Amino acid sequence: MKVKTPRESLTVMTEIVLPNDTNNLGNLFGGQLLSWMDRCSAISAHRHCKKQVVTAAVNNVSFNQAIPIASIVTLEAKVSRAFKSSMEVFVDVYVEDQKVDGKRTYTNEAIYTFVAVDEFGSPVEIPAIEPQTKIEKMRFEGALRRKQLGLILSGKMQPNEATELKALFMED
Ligand SMILES: CC(C)(COP(=O)(O)OP(=O)(O)OC[C@H]1O[C@@H](n2cnc3c(N)ncnc32)[C@H](O)[C@@H]1OP(=O)(O)O)[C@@H](O)C(=O)NCCC(=O)NCCS
Repeated sequence: MKVKTPRESLTVMTEIVLPNDTNNLGNLFGGQLLSWMDRCSAISAHRHCKKQVVTAAVNNVSFNQAIPIASIVTLEAKVSRAFKSSMEVFVDVYVEDQKVDGKRTYTNEAIYTFVAVDEFGSPVEIPAIEPQTKIEKMRFEGALRRKQLGLILSGKMQPNEATELKALFMED
């Protein structure tokens, strides 16, 4: 399989925060942002492997600042690392506050794991990925640690199998 670059999976989605998308304080409802991020990262994962993908895990989400109604929200997703059948996808979120000056600010990020599956839902192999930029290389490097941590926390890996993390969980 041809090795791909993260750029080939780049997916950009732009939304506007309407009244239906808000919480009681008039800011974007967290569940709505999670849904947008899931869609954006699923398309990115599909662009990498050109197969059906399912969300296996949401590894990290941070909501660092409230996003007010009428904001324009841009999501940018890219595959940061591909394993055998699973992929880590980073989603970066930016907001333009159209009520003030339209200035674009970085508000939060999320890290999702997708698995490529066949028509029966069984995992299938995907192309490897080769990071190009400094940030892509940094995210690639950390992905195996994050994968192993996620698998341990979900009970799918024993700490002594986690080559990258043994020191955190095991005594010498
Ligand atoms: C994700 C899924 C396909 C994995 O199936 P499985 O039988 O556990 O498959 P395996 O144990 O062979 O794992 C396949 C890959 O998924 C990864 N994986 C499985 N569970 C994971 C988890 N909780 N977190 C991160 N990665 C996970 C494995 O590490 C493996 O990765 P690799 O092939 O790159 O090494 C299966 O659990 C599934 O279909 N889940 C439901 C998905 C879904 O419906 N999502 C939407 C929810 S709203």
